[in-house]
Amino acid sequence: MRFAAAVVAACCAVGTASGGVARAQDSLSTSLTGAKGDPARGRAIVTNRQLGLCLLCHSGPFPEERFQGNLAPDLAGTGKRWSEGQLRLRIVDSSRINPATIMPAYHRTDGLARVAPAWRGKPVLSAEQIEDVVAFLTTLKD
Ligand code: HEC
Repeated sequence: MRFAAAVVAACCAVGTASGGVARAQDSLSTSLTGAKGDPARGRAIVTNRQLGLCLLCHSGPFPEERFQGNLAPDLAGTGKRWSEGQLRLRIVDSSRINPATIMPAYHRTDGLARVAPAWRGKPVLSAEQIEDVVAFLTTLKD
């Protein structure tokens, strides 16, 4: 019984703490460039196998693309499920929502291990590219 009580106490303490943090960090509401991105350029980044690599893990409404991933949720409807700010945070650094995620942080340069010198300090996608991807994902309403 004492064990059960301790587990409940630990669980609920964690629940409150992470619940508060999750709410505060669930979204990045300000554009990284101060401007709206371009959805057509964003679509091209998402389907590009060198740049975004999104389709390595995700599938989505891209009928022309063969071999889409099945390690992550389908991107169809993401613009309905998530707000623009929630999408931005998920692309910039998904590990801020799920520390164990396999999704790369596309716009983070700190806290990374074993980065080759040529890539240090350079995010995978630029601020402008992030905004293009976010602008595209917000159009995926169904
Ligand atoms: C290595 C695999 C991987 C890659 C590459 C990847 N993701 Fe993800 N992504 C995931 C996983 C897994 C999740 C589910 C949530 C989690 O585990 O963090 C996710 C979640 C998401 C979500 C939230 C989806 C939802 O409806 O819950 C969005 C939006 C998203 N990814 C967009 C992208 C975009 C855009 C790219 C490319 C720029 C990308 N992802 C690249 C693995 C990946």
